Amino acid sequence: MLDTLRPAVSSIIDSNNEPVAKMQQICDLLKAEIPHYDWVGFYFKNGDKRELKLGPYAGAPTDHTIIPFGKGICGQVAESNENFVVPDVKAQDNYIACSITVKAEIVVPLFVNGEIIGQIDIDSNTPDPFTKADEHFLEFVNFEIAKIL
Ligand code: SME
Repeated sequence: MLDTLRPAVSSIIDSNNEPVAKMQQICDLLKAEIPHYDWVGFYFKNGDKRELKLGPYAGAPTDHTIIPFGKGICGQVAESNENFVVPDVKAQDNYIACSITVKAEIVVPLFVNGEIIGQIDIDSNTPDPFTKADEHFLEFVNFEIAKIL
């Protein structure tokens, strides 16, 4: 299911648009096509500050447009540089709730030339929905996006 979306992601990357527009299209595509993706967005390092800034996203607007490093799932990934899969957000002490409907979350770092510059963040209203297939697919998405940044 996820892998069938890879060509659509690549064709967005290869299209004739600005990088931000391409990332927006990818957010919209993933949210529309993957039933357990209820919020899809990118956070990027905010200049030299130790914080993340919200980029393109699809789903409900969030108050969390700035997230300090170390805070929440996103802020922890900004420090660990590793995928973070959360099957049950209620079991996490260091978690920033964006919506009470969210049950699970996955965050995968975005590397450009070996340097972490941001991350893709998915919220799900389905409990424990993420598998290795999601990690591999989101690593692919970030690898494609790295080509245009
Ligand atoms: N839940 C995230 C905050 C971002 S929202 O999911 C959009 C976190 O704990 O870092």
